[in-house]
Amino acid sequence: MKTILKKIDKNNIDMQVLEDAGEIIRRGGLVAFPTETVYGLGADALDEEAAKKTYAAKGRPSDNPLIVHITKYEDLEKIAVDIPRETAVLAERFWPGPLTMIFKKDAKVPYGTTGGLDTVAVRMPSDAIARELIRASGGFVSAPSANTSGRPSPTKAEHVMEDLAGKVDMVLDGGSVEIGLESTVLDMTVEPPMILRPGAITAGMLEEVVGMVSIDETILGAESETAPKAPGMKYRHYAPKAKLTIVEGNIREEVLAIRQLVYSAINGGKKVGIIATDETIQYYSNGIIKNVGSREDEKTIARNLFSVLREFDGEEVDEIYSESFAMRGIGNAIMNRLDKAAGHLRIPAADIVRRQRYRRIVFVSQTDTCRGPVAAELLRQKHLQQEYVIDSRGMVVLFPEPINPKVEAIMRSHGMTLEGYTSVPFSGAEIAGDILILTMDEVQKNKVLSEYGNALSVYTLNEFVGETEEVPDPYGGALNAYGLCHEKISGLIDKLTEKLNSYTEGGA
Ligand code: TXA
Ligand code: MG
Repeated sequence: MKTILKKIDKNNIDMQVLEDAGEIIRRGGLVAFPTETVYGLGADALDEEAAKKTYAAKGRPSDNPLIVHITKYEDLEKIAVDIPRETAVLAERFWPGPLTMIFKKDAKVPYGTTGGLDTVAVRMPSDAIARELIRASGGFVSAPSANTSGRPSPTKAEHVMEDLAGKVDMVLDGGSVEIGLESTVLDMTVEPPMILRPGAITAGMLEEVVGMVSIDETILGAESETAPKAPGMKYRHYAPKAKLTIVEGNIREEVLAIRQLVYSAINGGKKVGIIATDETIQYYSNGIIKNVGSREDEKTIARNLFSVLREFDGEEVDEIYSESFAMRGIGNAIMNRLDKAAGHLRIPAADIVRRQRYRRIVFVSQTDTCRGPVAAELLRQKHLQQEYVIDSRGMVVLFPEPINPKVEAIMRSHGMTLEGYTSVPFSGAEIAGDILILTMDEVQKNKVLSEYGNALSVYTLNEFVGETEEVPDPYGGALNAYGLCHEKISGLIDKLTEKLNSYTEGGA
């Protein structure tokens, strides 16, 4: 089947295209279209055969019911029975919009559409293109999200084409959707009404209108014994191809933990992605980093989440680490989708952060023009199993000085360079619980300890790796003295690498 792709301008809808699309649906075909939540795969909701085609195109289990989309409140009464009293006020407040309500179904609605259930889910979308299409199709359009079953829901027409090109008659491209997560599903057949799927219309918003609502307890939280009430919620939906892990803690811990996890995964030869935010993105450097939005405005995260997950599929990453997001407003829906995408894989950031004894290593020498910078550079070249910020500092630095030319000559003979490096004075910024200070000899160690009474991890480099002999100071000596010094440092850095790498997972 050749899929017709048509661009539609929301603000200036080409009615002829919409009439053609409606015609396709009335004749039993499939048309994907934008809604304010996600793109839907539209079919005639009252046609059993059309429902079968929908399931086939999505590769979706046929026990998973479809939502029937309407544009007029009167039409609800044609497909649902025993409509409870509160429905009218909910509809008044939230329709058209991202709320789906479940009722007992009228005999007119085929079991094919409801996945064999005696209930029917109904929604009145607000998107102008969606509304025109429903109208042109006869008023009752079943529409699951227009993705292949198990993939993230589509928020752009390109996503629909990725999954369904060749499997549906037409795709209406109305640009990016507004909300990005599927509608809130509210079961009206129980008292009080129960949220089966969280969305942009939150429990708090519903309660303002109808008093109490309950929430299907299987929605969040890990594996539960009971099956979710919405059949679709039991599948590992929204799943990216890569293994996704949600890292939970306060922002600082999450960033530190993700940096560490990403560093180790890359060390293990993995291609790794990070789901970061406006507020945190600058703190990551390794891996494929994607900005999902702002923590200050969860709506931006909702809008981008599925798209980001799909982008990672395109990049073929093996693992993805995501920060977690505030459970306020649409945040509940965001965390629900993320949790499902992760197959409930969530880890406490604090556990990871605790595993790393030191985060930064500072080599301290007298002038920071020779031994310290060499030690730092040699360590940077090593294969370290944890991520460290590696620096050097000098105890006597009055103004920035370049690297000693003899040191540079020796470095070059080893295929390295410190060209452009200038000395930096030691300061109180180098004192913190997670900073390891390694001095070249006792002189600097004592100086640090006497100047900074609160200094904790201060050792001479040789002492730290269990050697008795200090690094000699070659200052003023011949090139040969610098060569010997380099050799000495090199040997100590080998040992240091071993020691740091012994602080592996769970250790240290
Ligand atoms: O925002 C949305 O709701 C989008 C757009 C296209 O409108 N549609 C959508 O449909 O997300 P779908 O099929 O991907 O998800 C419908 C969810 C599924 O979890 C399904 O199991 C549940 O609603 N559902 C539908 N009818 C139901 C019923 N009668 N009883 C319980 N759950 C039902
Ligand atoms: Mg879906």
